[in-house]
Amino acid sequence: MRIAVPRETASGERRVALVPEVVAKLAASGFEIAIERGAGEAAGFADDAYAAVGAQIVDDVGDAACVARVAPPSAEETAQMSDGQVLIGFLAPLTDLDGIARLRARGVVAFAMESVPRISRAQSMDALSSQATVSGYKAVLIAADRAPKMFPLLMTAAGTIAPAKVLVLGAGVAGLQAIATARRLGAVVSSFDVRPAVKEQVESLGATFLDLGVRGEETEGGYAKELTPEQQAEQQRALAERIPDFDVVITTALIPGRPAPKLIPASSVAAMRPGSVIVDLAAEAGGNCESTRPCEEAVVHGVTIVGLTNLPSLLAADASRLYSRNVAALLQHLAPGGELALDFDDEITSGACVTREACA
Ligand code: NAI
Repeated sequence: MRIAVPRETASGERRVALVPEVVAKLAASGFEIAIERGAGEAAGFADDAYAAVGAQIVDDVGDAACVARVAPPSAEETAQMSDGQVLIGFLAPLTDLDGIARLRARGVVAFAMESVPRISRAQSMDALSSQATVSGYKAVLIAADRAPKMFPLLMTAAGTIAPAKVLVLGAGVAGLQAIATARRLGAVVSSFDVRPAVKEQVESLGATFLDLGVRGEETEGGYAKELTPEQQAEQQRALAERIPDFDVVITTALIPGRPAPKLIPASSVAAMRPGSVIVDLAAEAGGNCESTRPCEEAVVHGVTIVGLTNLPSLLAADASRLYSRNVAALLQHLAPGGELALDFDDEITSGACVTREACA
């Protein structure tokens, strides 16, 4: 099966769907790979590196049986796809309904990385987790960079500097990585999640689990259910009392397909010390903080609020390495030995597939 990797065109997207190391493995297991000239450049992978492992460097990705990409294709890119062509990428199936409708109308057999079921058998394909890990790490580095305070406890001849106090809201994949990274930098870390099951994981990373008296429910897939308005108000009230203690707050709370829960009202931002930092990883879904401006960084009442989106793109080389392995694992599943063999009775294939008129 021929796989084409286009140059990403989405604004700010620096990642690439396949890196040379993974192209080499796919080529060895029967896939033919075409890379659009310059596709890996922004992530630090030169055309020569792809050519050296057997990829064809092309000016037009043409009519490959499968297109692998990172961000959803634009309307123009979808218009160039053909009936029955397989597409793999982050396709925002729960939020970009127009994009999905365009793919369906075109007859594209689309597999969304977001829809790969989170079961043990599909762990190697879990791109939400691999990219959330990168985001959690980067969020802490951004916070450390913006804060006027150092993270570790320092005892010097000029006296002692107290460690930074960091609060991580939402202890899923990104949150746990943020906790681990902040701990490595020497901060004193606390965390809260509505899923009580994560308390143990938070504590095993050396952080304190805040008891806010709010307990949410989990869906069968292990995701948090949206809180009731009463629970949400209670959470905001309980958090408002604690937030002024912290130098840095990293928020990662998400409910798949829903606007991000508002955890920090503007009044809580006003109550923080000047120089405090909030990094809102939920910015793309509207933000966990009422004062977050998605894609922007702002200073409100002396508090820096970072609403940057697509943090994995800021670490494009490693984010692409991880993503690429996820894509390759899915490809090996859909096309064992390089031959497409879609089995829609299989939980992973049917779960990840978001449009498949051509094969239905
Ligand atoms: P996510 O990105 O959807 O949400 C991030 C975190 O926000 C979650 O931990 C969620 O509980 C929390 N949250 C939601 N509303 C909140 C609120 N109002 N206040 C505080 N926290 C709130 O979740 P993510 O990180 O993608 O994964 C969540 C869970 O999915 C994992 O912990 C696990 O149970 C499951 N999972 C399973 C995998 C597997 O079996 N292969 C792999 C990865 C995740």
